[in-house]
Amino acid sequence: MALSIKNSHNRYGLATITLHWVMALVIISMYPLGLYIDSLGYYDAAYKTVPHWHKSIGMILLALLVVRLLWRMITPQPQALPQPAMLHLATKVAHLSIYILMIVALLSGYMISTADGRAIAVFNWFEIPALPAVIDQQEDVAGLVHYWITTALIALAGVHALAALKHHFINKDQTLSRMMGMPQETNQ
Ligand code: HEM
Ligand code: HEM
Repeated sequence: MALSIKNSHNRYGLATITLHWVMALVIISMYPLGLYIDSLGYYDAAYKTVPHWHKSIGMILLALLVVRLLWRMITPQPQALPQPAMLHLATKVAHLSIYILMIVALLSGYMISTADGRAIAVFNWFEIPALPAVIDQQEDVAGLVHYWITTALIALAGVHALAALKHHFINKDQTLSRMMGMPQETNQ
């Protein structure tokens, strides 16, 4: 059966799959980009461009995350594939933690960039206004939070990817293939 936009009771649909993989790829690429920014000096040529790309892409990620969360509320969630109750719970906790880490990573980035009251220019295309700073030394505090939260996010995403590969190659179930939009072998 062709893949539909919405999820069904046993399959992820095109929208969920596209959002998952586009965001995964972009988030993973943002991590080395951020570390590179941190290594730049004020007089490096890249200082004028790379932080701008990092912030612009980050704001697009924030918009995608809002769309993803709203979409998750209105599209059905496919039935969980059978696994022991403890692993089922661990999967739920891991997914919830990934969502929370994504939110904090993106908001802390916004808080670093707008701490001085300047708006964020998204690829010189439109501007996201700055909200007033809410904590003392916001740029430094949000910078520290941003580093540790994005590091935790990438580490957890690594464990999450290993879990997906374990399902595929060891349990030989459809966890990974249904996130790739492959036709399901049973229960069509
Ligand atoms: C999930 C997406 C993101 C990831 C994985 C990510 C990752 C990183 C990393 C690893 C650093 C280096 C931190 C350090 O070494 O101290 C960094 C720095 C930075 N990020 Fe992000 N970031 C993301 C989203 C954002 C967003 C949305 C913004 C703002 C709109 C942003 C703004 C910044 C800024 C301004 C810095 C430089 C901070 C400094 O040097 O203290 N980031 N990011
Ligand atoms: C930064 C990278 C990644 C992030 C932020 C991420 C995030 C997520 C989230 C939040 C979910 C839960 C979806 C939901 O129920 O709403 C999910 C599901 C899933 N992810 Fe990822 N993911 C990433 C990378 C990967 C990679 C690299 C793989 C595979 C090697 C992968 C495989 C899967 C699979 C198979 C599911 C479905 C799990 C299930 O049905 O129980 N993800 N991902």
